[in-house]
Amino acid sequence: MNSIIITGGAGFIGSHLVRLLVNTYPEILFINFDKLTYAGNLANLTDIENAPNYRFIKGDIVEEESVMSAFETYRFDGVFHLAAESHVDRSIVNPKEFIMTNIVGTVNLLNTARHFWNGHYEGKRFYHVSTDEVYGSLGDEGKFLETTPYDPRSPYSASKASSDHLVRAYYHTYGLPVVISNCSNNYGPNQFPEKLIPLIINNIRHQKPLPVYGKGLNVRDWLYVGDHARAIDLIYREGRIGQTYNIGGSNERQNIDIVRTLCRIMDRKLGRKDGESEKLITFVTDRAGHDFRYAIDSSKLQNELCWKPEVKFDEGFEKTVDWYLANQKWLDEVTSGDYLSYYEKMYKGR
Ligand code: NAD
Ligand code: TYD
Repeated sequence: MNSIIITGGAGFIGSHLVRLLVNTYPEILFINFDKLTYAGNLANLTDIENAPNYRFIKGDIVEEESVMSAFETYRFDGVFHLAAESHVDRSIVNPKEFIMTNIVGTVNLLNTARHFWNGHYEGKRFYHVSTDEVYGSLGDEGKFLETTPYDPRSPYSASKASSDHLVRAYYHTYGLPVVISNCSNNYGPNQFPEKLIPLIINNIRHQKPLPVYGKGLNVRDWLYVGDHARAIDLIYREGRIGQTYNIGGSNERQNIDIVRTLCRIMDRKLGRKDGESEKLITFVTDRAGHDFRYAIDSSKLQNELCWKPEVKFDEGFEKTVDWYLANQKWLDEVTSGDYLSYYEKMYKGR
């Protein structure tokens, strides 16, 4: 049986990818290798945890021996690398953890794959999942292409950019069969409520202030997480070795519009008066070095591999809010304990 390691499979995007792969390829064994940080949650995967082609290993990619030992046991044919520290605001407070996991952890995986594959690259593939934030910040015009020079501005995006460069270096230097994708902002079920959309949903639920950084005019390009998972599966199978593919929703929105839309949807679903939740909007001190706008040109992926986003924004938004309302226990569990002190620290005095 072929086997594939997925790092970060208990996180937001990772759990959607693991589910897709485990259900689609019963003949392949998938090993979810995850440290279970605050962002990793096995409750995201209860529906497939007993599948015969799925196993979980609690492990840290920063510890090279753990990665080695997983490779030793399973002799992986492929790697989907998603494990990362992923939140910009946390990277501003504590950059070092981002350097360790996102850079050192990636190098450990690259070294281990290289060691075990030992130049026999037939049928092997190392897929590195990255972000559009490596390209920096756009003004009102233009979109990121795969050829856009890297210009990361936060410790998070700098650490991801660094990992992308290293992955490419292992391709050019050692011939490691890599492929990289850079995706825009994802939304959907199971996203940890430190990110804009689930944080706002959770605060509306509790009728707490809705923190909007600056004037709320920054723009993000939103993609439904299931569409990202489909793109990753496709690129892994059909993408060209050594290439980079941009993935995006062509769905740009100002943050304030996202927040207002969520207010309207939630007022309707919670039976509140129209306009009630909008009163909770609170403009707070801007994020340091806040990137103004991200926008992705995904025409390479669309033309070469015939991918396109399937979930329209309105539909995706309804689905997302419905999921959080139907899974309030999940929300309550992840927002108890450490989350409360994180929230206090991050938003106090803003
Ligand atoms: P997430 O924070 O929800 O999940 C990250 C997962 O990685 C968690 O399960 C965590 O436990 C695990 N992890 C963290 N450090 C680890 C370590 N040292 N060893 C092993 N596991 C570790 O992140 P996400 O939003 O699902 O993002 C997944 C990947 O996709 C990341 O590489 C991120 O940079 C990239 N990405 C995210 C977005 C987005 O909008 N969320 C967009 C583009 C790209
Ligand atoms: P986020 O979900 O953290 O993703 P990223 O910074 O990686 O794009 O933030 C999305 C946008 O929302 C970003 O412009 C920052 C803004 N934002 C707020 O206005 N308030 C918040 O409480 C958060 C978490 C983000």
